[in-house]
Amino acid sequence: MKCTRCKEKAVVALPSHNAGFCPPCYLKFFQRQVEKAIKAQKLFTFDDKILVALSGGKDSLALAKQLKDLGYDITGLHIDLAIPESSPIARGYVERFCTMYDIEMHVLEMDALGLPIPRVKEKIRRPVCSVCGKIKRYYFNKHALDHGFTVLATGHNLDDEAARLFSNVFRWDAAYLGDQGPALPAEKGFARKVKPLFRVSEFETANYCFIAGIDYGFAPCPYSKGASFTFYKTILDELEHKQPGRKISFYEGFLSKGRKAFARQDQDEGVLPTPCSQCSYPTSEDVCGVCRIRQNLGT
Ligand code: AMP
Ligand code: FES
Ligand code: ZN
Repeated sequence: MKCTRCKEKAVVALPSHNAGFCPPCYLKFFQRQVEKAIKAQKLFTFDDKILVALSGGKDSLALAKQLKDLGYDITGLHIDLAIPESSPIARGYVERFCTMYDIEMHVLEMDALGLPIPRVKEKIRRPVCSVCGKIKRYYFNKHALDHGFTVLATGHNLDDEAARLFSNVFRWDAAYLGDQGPALPAEKGFARKVKPLFRVSEFETANYCFIAGIDYGFAPCPYSKGASFTFYKTILDELEHKQPGRKISFYEGFLSKGRKAFARQDQDEGVLPTPCSQCSYPTSEDVCGVCRIRQNLGT
């Protein structure tokens, strides 16, 4: 197969784009997908101070490298969850990556902040993953607001987004569908959140890391049974295999045609968040969820 752009030997075939690329042209293709996402959804500009949440996995590292190469003002944030089996490995990948590409990096240690995930797990009866996700989102948002970042970017990719959409559609969850998309505006004490990799698949991100020479980590969390929405991802992969391009058309079709049907009309009608009495984070109760977990742990 020949490269669609330069006719050299192609090393990556992308049926969904009806194209194949040689290594340099693949990097160009990936860059174009990210640029297109930023422009089409007006995610941010060169004036924004962008905080990129870095887990050490392929998606967030690819995102940081691409945004840095495009000239955006980025800083990395890693949350060290204090899980002995996986956290030191993940942190190591992020530290080496940020040193290598000269990216400023902030680390928040959940142990020092009184919320080591293994202890949280001992104390709660719910699955720890959802609580851990809540804690991470809390610190992404808090750190962005406390340090004057105008945007928070995460490495969610097309597979994550399409699977989430599929699951929301299956339940006709109007509230979630109204909120789903690659950009959530800043509002009521929450930072603007963006997902600039929503046009590229997991496979495309992995390829980008491989060709760009990014050393990313795979340190599976011992508490989670696998990636989120695994079942929906499998169904969508099968569909994509039979009908290349369906994933992106499903997701982009939702953005252009479906989403407005679920736009929140009751935005200001519910209980307005007020500052948590312990930490000032927006909450609908007196004490926010994360402060309640901390109280439960006695830290
Ligand atoms: P996940 O939910 O694990 O697929 O992660 C989705 C995105 O959240 C990643 O691409 C990162 O941007 C961010 N993220 C997840 N875990 C961490 C972490 N420990 N520290 C910083 N960012 C993270
Ligand atoms: Fe949070 Fe596994 S990464 S529970
Ligand atoms: Zn609080």
